[in-house]
Order: sequence, then structure tokens, then C-alpha cells
Amino acid sequence: MSLLDDIAKMAEEATAELDGIETADALEAWRTRYLGTKGAVRAAMQRLGEVSGADKPAAGKAANQAKNALQAAYKIRRDDLGTPGAKARLSKGEVVEDVTIPGRRPTIGHRHIITQTVEEICEVFARMGFEIAYGPEVEDEHHNFDALNIPAGHPARDPLDNYYIDEATMLRSQTSTVQIRVMENQQPPVRIVAPGRVYRPDTVDATHSFMFHQIEGLYVDEGVTMADLKTSLDQFCKAYLGHEVATRFRPSFFPFTEPSAELDMLFHYEDGTTKWIELGGCGMVDPNVLDQVGYDSEKYTGYAFGLGIERMVMRKHNIPDIRMLFDSDLRFLHQF
Ligand code: DAH
Repeated sequence: MSLLDDIAKMAEEATAELDGIETADALEAWRTRYLGTKGAVRAAMQRLGEVSGADKPAAGKAANQAKNALQAAYKIRRDDLGTPGAKARLSKGEVVEDVTIPGRRPTIGHRHIITQTVEEICEVFARMGFEIAYGPEVEDEHHNFDALNIPAGHPARDPLDNYYIDEATMLRSQTSTVQIRVMENQQPPVRIVAPGRVYRPDTVDATHSFMFHQIEGLYVDEGVTMADLKTSLDQFCKAYLGHEVATRFRPSFFPFTEPSAELDMLFHYEDGTTKWIELGGCGMVDPNVLDQVGYDSEKYTGYAFGLGIERMVMRKHNIPDIRMLFDSDLRFLHQF
């Protein structure tokens, strides 16, 4: 009989035997018999020397194939057997796993601290009668500038300070755009807050990011005054940050409000010191802005504000660097 035939027969027998094996001991004996250093496969390899030149490649190939096939079959059988006798016990309906091993818990995510804060802030304003409005992040110059009394040539429109997409389209640099969008579509009274992302090509550092969040507010009706503005913002700060929080308004300038102010909040540090922290801008809506959307500025007045969300989050939770908020490090994010 030729070596080729012997190899084929040996492989066939080995496979048949393997199928009948039910215990780890029998499997190990099988392995030694066929795949061991003195096993049948090795013996067949050694007989290659007897084969004449022309038949050698075919015989060598067959021997290798048999060896690989048996090794693969061995591994499959070994995995199948697993716990000794598992197959037999399983077929009798027995539990063969250790049912006391704790399961793998899926990790459960949660809303980002900024999202949580936006929702919390909106809730406070909702209690004061504000509706929530949204506007697009890709804006036109009309809503980001012209309608807000920021004319062509104004330094705020500098291409170096804004993300222009083309001549007239840009990533909005402020949520004040939503004031215009709401007033264009609705008659007074208007009372909205608009949270969202804004974009500015600032150099990124501990307090600056090229993208951050603002919450815009707008209230237009007959007889709205600066006193309403101050009360609402003071109430908001107390509701969000605590009743002991003090606020102050500093005179400022924004093209779309007159008069304008900056809102500061007195922040208490753990070491007992205090510092005034700027939360954002506000003021009485400039009559030009009201006229521009077709409101009667003789009849209606309004106030507006725009606050930075990250600032409030960082103060409230003692976060020293804005970049931490936009990092994907879950060890940081899971704390909130
Ligand atoms: N849009 C201003 C900014 O991003 C903030 C602001 C100031 C918004 C005064 C207002 C406002 O609504 O009345 O710097």
C-alpha cells in the first residue's frame, strides 16, 4: 500500500475515533496516538523519505493536510467537551454552568453634564412662563448680524472672528439669532429662552473653546421694563445656584440692546473668598431690532439676555478647565 493511501486511511480512522470520544482522558490519549511526538502523523512524515522523487510532493502535501485537519478537529472536540461530561449532562437537562457567577453588567450611559444643565435652566425659566425655542446652528448673516443691528463693516463681522461657510452663511456666533427667528414668526407677547451651541474661532485654553453653549432669553410685551429684566435674572440665578447668590448689573454695550448691561454673580470659593463672575450680557431690546421684524416699537418694549452655559456649569461643579467638558474621558463625565 502506498504512503498516500496509508495517510488517507489514518486520517479517516482518527476522525472516526475522535467523534466517539466523550472524556478529556480519552481525548488526551487520542492526541498522543495521532498528534504526539511518537504519533501516527509524525510516523507518516518520517516515511516520506521512502517515497520516490516524483511522488514526494503529493505525499508531503497529503501528510501536511492530514496533520492540519486533525489538529483543527482536535481543538473543536476539546472545546465541545468543555467541562468533562458536559455534553451528556446537558442532554439530561442538568445545569452545567456555575450559575452563581455574576453576570456581565452593561454600562449604562447618562446625559452629559451640559445637557443636564441646559434642561435644568430651561425648567427654571419655564416656571417663570418662558417657552423654549430653537434655531439653526448654520445661520445667515441677516439673522446673526443685520437684524441684530450689527451693520456691514462692524468689527464683530470680521471673518477672522467668525466661522464663515460662504459669503453670507456662517456657524452662528451667538444664540441672539433665535430672537429674530421667533419675532419674525410670532406677534407679541413673546417670552422665550433658546439654548444651543455657538461657534467662534477662539484659541482654545482653560476658559475658551471654539464651540460653547449659550442660553438666550427674550421677553417682548407692552410695558416691559429694565426692572423686569433685573428681577427675572436675579430670580433665575437664585433658583439655579442658590438663594444666597448675589447678582449685579454693570453698564455695557451691545448693538441690539439699549441700554445694555453685563450680568455678574458673586461666587463664593471654598476658601472663604468671593469673586464676581460674569455670566453674560443683557439689556432692553433696541427699537431698531423691533422695527426690523415689523413690531411696533412705540407700543412694545422688551428685554433680552444671553448667558454662557459652560461658565455656570464650571462654577457650580468646580470644574477648572472647559476642555474637560468636551473630552470623551468617561471617568470625568461619570461624576455628574
Ligand atoms: N449675544 C451676546 C454675546 O454672545 C450676548 C447677549 C448680550 C445676548 C445682550 C443678549 C443681550 O440677548 O441682550 O456676546
